[in-house]
Amino acid sequence: MASIAIVGLGPVGLCSGVAFATQGHRVVAVDIDSKRRQEIARGKPPFYEKGIEAALRKVLRQKRFSVAETMEEAIGPSTVVFLCVGTPSRSDGSMDDGALRDAVKSLAAAWKDEKRRTVVVKSTVLPGTADGVVRPILEAARRPFRLGVNPEFLREGRALEDALRPDRIVLGADGPETARILKGLYRSAKCPLFSTDVKTAEAVKYATNAFLATKVAFADELANLCDAFGISYDEVHKGLGLDPRINPRFLVPGVGFGGSCLPKDVRALVAAGRRRGAEPVLLEGVLAQNDQQYLRAIARLEEELGDLKGKRIALLGLAFKGDTDDVRETRAVPIARTLLSKGALVIGYDPLAGPAFSALLPEVKIADSAKEALDGADGVVLQADWPAFSRLTAKDFLTAMATPVVVDGRRILDPKKMQGVRFRRIG
Ligand SMILES: NC(=O)c1ccc[n+]([C@@H]2O[C@H](COP(=O)([O-])OP(=O)(O)OC[C@H]3O[C@@H](n4cnc5c(N)ncnc54)[C@H](O)[C@@H]3O)[C@@H](O)[C@H]2O)c1
Repeated sequence: MASIAIVGLGPVGLCSGVAFATQGHRVVAVDIDSKRRQEIARGKPPFYEKGIEAALRKVLRQKRFSVAETMEEAIGPSTVVFLCVGTPSRSDGSMDDGALRDAVKSLAAAWKDEKRRTVVVKSTVLPGTADGVVRPILEAARRPFRLGVNPEFLREGRALEDALRPDRIVLGADGPETARILKGLYRSAKCPLFSTDVKTAEAVKYATNAFLATKVAFADELANLCDAFGISYDEVHKGLGLDPRINPRFLVPGVGFGGSCLPKDVRALVAAGRRRGAEPVLLEGVLAQNDQQYLRAIARLEEELGDLKGKRIALLGLAFKGDTDDVRETRAVPIARTLLSKGALVIGYDPLAGPAFSALLPEVKIADSAKEALDGADGVVLQADWPAFSRLTAKDFLTAMATPVVVDGRRILDPKKMQGVRFRRIG
């Protein structure tokens, strides 16, 4: 079993750290955010992830997982160091590697001994980043290191489950010994393990997210076309999925994709591709498609209610999807902003993301329950696929709302069960 240091305790660092500890490795984690360190050390995850609190408490009790106060303390016993810091978008869409640079610099400064460590980039980074950013800093510090890349494919909301039982593992290594060490960490995994060079592993992550974003944008565009032709998307989708070359999963149309990964990773790839003369017109189209898709939900409301001025609109689901409290790039923000600019009163509700959403858009009143948000509403937009929302019935809408106009922006309700409701979807 290995001794692992985790640098950065967001969903990726915390869930993979807890998963490594659950599998028997010894993990010491660190973050620059002292409040986050303290909370995690006390067994309190700073964000919602199914199962993470119990799993964290268990590995803390077993002393397989601990939180260090300093980088030096975190890397002391380690032979492998995972870098899990954020790589957000800059204002021009390019990848901001500032946190990664800072983390590697502080790793180099804290690395006082001569132990050879394997430094693994788990953050999503553009091809060439491990060799172009991480390697030079460690070389300048004259530390004896090996370099690897292990992109993360977990889905927020199921992050722990995905970290414990991944469906594939991609490892990029700077040599056979690094590959052997990385494979050893995943010895218990029962899934395909793809070992390649560092730059290819970095690229596989972007290829994956670019393809997933393209699938969503394609589904959205196809649904818009189905509306224009007056055909049911569901039927077209059934026929489409019969083609053995087309996997019908992840082709659910709605109000577009958000979250901390798809938008920023596609933007970063487009920006980096453009700089290198690749002209990524398809991915530029994916972003343009996604940027306007939420307007379809507004259009549905206007078709049913006319002018939205003075109308009371409930917005159910404020996180970027169900089962998470993450509001990064949630489509609820442009939807609410547009409704407010049209003079509507917006009442939002989310099982978990209310406070985080309020910090982004304080003009939106936050209700304590879906029922309270629906009370007296002229229309509702379902923006996130929370299981609780998929259990809403026609009766819930008919009894609570002033006018039962329901726009299902995530295809979670069955239109056949919505008798009496003015039920609209996209496609
Ligand atoms: N969230 C996801 O669903 C997901 C999935 C796959 C991949 N990724 C990628 O993984 C990376 C991390 O994602 P996340 O959502 O966990 O990020 P996050 O921004 O939520 O968390 C990053 C953490 O790193 C800490 N940090 C920043 N600089 C640091 C430093 N110098 N030293 C120590 N800690 C530092 C921050 O305080 C924060 O707690 C990103 O590159 C992201 O694109 C995320």
